[in-house]
Amino acid sequence: MRADIVLLPGDGIGPEIIAEAEKVIHEIARIFSHDFNLSFGEIGGCAIDKYGDPLPDSTLEPCKKADAILLGAVGGPKWDDPNAKTRPEVGLLKIRKELGLFANLRPIKPHTTLIDASPLKREIIEGVDILFVRELTGGVYFGDSELREEDGEQVAINEMIYRTSEVERVVRVAAKAAMARGKYLTSVDKANVLEVSRLWRRAAQNVVSQQYSELKYDVVLVDAMAMHLITRPRDFDVVVTGNLFGDILTDEASVLPGSLGLLPSASLGESGPGLYEPIHGSAPDIAGKGIANPLATILATAMMFQHSLGLSQEAELIEKAVEQVLDAGHRTADIASDTESISTTEMATKVIEAINSLA
Ligand code: IPM
Ligand code: MN
Repeated sequence: MRADIVLLPGDGIGPEIIAEAEKVIHEIARIFSHDFNLSFGEIGGCAIDKYGDPLPDSTLEPCKKADAILLGAVGGPKWDDPNAKTRPEVGLLKIRKELGLFANLRPIKPHTTLIDASPLKREIIEGVDILFVRELTGGVYFGDSELREEDGEQVAINEMIYRTSEVERVVRVAAKAAMARGKYLTSVDKANVLEVSRLWRRAAQNVVSQQYSELKYDVVLVDAMAMHLITRPRDFDVVVTGNLFGDILTDEASVLPGSLGLLPSASLGESGPGLYEPIHGSAPDIAGKGIANPLATILATAMMFQHSLGLSQEAELIEKAVEQVLDAGHRTADIASDTESISTTEMATKVIEAINSLA
């Protein structure tokens, strides 16, 4: 198959991990005789430095035409000034909105040989397999905002807004995913307080009862969900929620498996390219040292093959290879306990070797 893939390395460790994912893409192309056309773009802090814009048109336009986009990470202390004209994160929010990437898939599944690295007890974490579906282009992230003076003090307002259709489409994505997994969907809201959440709850309920009545379906308040994730994470299958709650809950969930360096994510729209990235950030403290864990980005590449290119065999091969490498005890610094750690490049090389031995 032919596909156009845009790589957006971004900031911090982004370029290092994307360079390794790129090798994996080339290897898959070679083994399966695919023709992948890779191009590069700038997003985040590096784009601010060069163009004064975290997502210039020269990046956005090729992305719109691509089949898939693989992103490293954006941000860093260099661009953290709260009074700056723009911020790296603005680039990320803009690319989500411009490409209509309303469904953010964040799978949380601890690797068996790393369970003891989890902050939770083995008996709580064992068997956890959750897919978070976070709404990504609406809610308080994209409502109007205002900062004004009132009675001699500053007052700030952010509007939290959801339309029924926005809720319905993301719940449909989550329900469909649940049908292909454990057939259990949990919708998370704050309907005891927020009007937005009451609309969310009605819309979600409608989608499920009209189209997915085979699913087991629950609603949980977001504060309770924060507790359940720690006390009984194994009980959940697919969890769907709004943008802000999803941001917070997925960060909470992402530490359960013991390393952030292992978790990929996919952002999908109704049509057009998907955006794939590791869940972790740009880790400026270790940037340039060659010790970052490339596995989350490599697993994001697998999600890209699966969701945007329809190449499930290739995706599975990458996932199996990562599993094999971890089973064999290879560790980057973030997941090494007493074992010696290997570098970013060495880890990717191990994965590529495993891909070849499994292929
Ligand atoms: C994420 C990040 C972003 C978000 C930031 C960097 C804007 O935290 O992808 O979860 O809040 O969505
Ligand atoms: Mn976040």
